[in-house]
Amino acid sequence: MAENIKDKKTPCHVAIIMDGNGRWAQQRGLERPEGHIAGVEAVRRVLKAAVAEGVKYLTLYTFSTENWGRPKEEVDAIMELFCKSVVAETPELKAQGVRARIMGDRSALSEKVNHYIDRIENETAEGERITLIFAMNYSSRHELTETMKVLAQKVAEGSLRAEEIDAATISANLYSCDYPDPDLIIRTGGEYRLSNFLMWQAAYSELFFTPTLWPDFDHDSLKEALEAYSGRNRRFGLVEAK
Ligand code: IPE
Ligand code: IPE
Ligand code: MG
Repeated sequence: MAENIKDKKTPCHVAIIMDGNGRWAQQRGLERPEGHIAGVEAVRRVLKAAVAEGVKYLTLYTFSTENWGRPKEEVDAIMELFCKSVVAETPELKAQGVRARIMGDRSALSEKVNHYIDRIENETAEGERITLIFAMNYSSRHELTETMKVLAQKVAEGSLRAEEIDAATISANLYSCDYPDPDLIIRTGGEYRLSNFLMWQAAYSELFFTPTLWPDFDHDSLKEALEAYSGRNRRFGLVEAK
């Protein structure tokens, strides 16, 4: 492993599909929500590690639009855990210089969850070391559908001409408009799929898959992913300079 990965190519934006909480709990004879509780510990660890490694944006897939289809008790437990974690973690986030943001469709989230989203975003707004983005009630198809509606509306109103629409116009109208595209996407839990995560933004992201279940993911696991990333040759469709 490299002595100091910061001297090599460190990804500016790391996005993580935090998968495997349920299996982690089941392996221990626990209820699935216990896995999500352990998952919060991993978030705390990995955030610290990302700051230490010089990552500037960390996006965490927290709840997908499809996750509403899980048993109500599990959905309620995840939402409750989010609210509790906001209260418990905000002082530490501020101390670490973290700016926390939420991306996704907030309209389907409860008033209570929206209250805690406002709270964490407002209280950490000055953070300058890292931007931590929770994808909540997020999915790419939903994001793109909403973006298409916005653009269609602008064309209908006459404030945008259809011929003017290019990739930059679309990027500028996504939930992620304030952030660079992810350089590295990590999926824990052993599955090899994106599950509706950042499909537009991932056009040229490097992908890293690990069987490690999210609650077991730690600083060394992140280092392993960053090390793999630093060895990748990103060509963006071009040929290498001689
Ligand atoms: C990911 O872990 C967390 C969420 C989707 C909220 P899972 O709950 O999907 O865990 P597994 O995949 O069932 O093990
Ligand atoms: C993706 O994990 C969503 C989150 C990590 C929040 P899922 O467990 O929901 O994805 P699938 O069902 O394995 O594709
Ligand atoms: Mg899963």
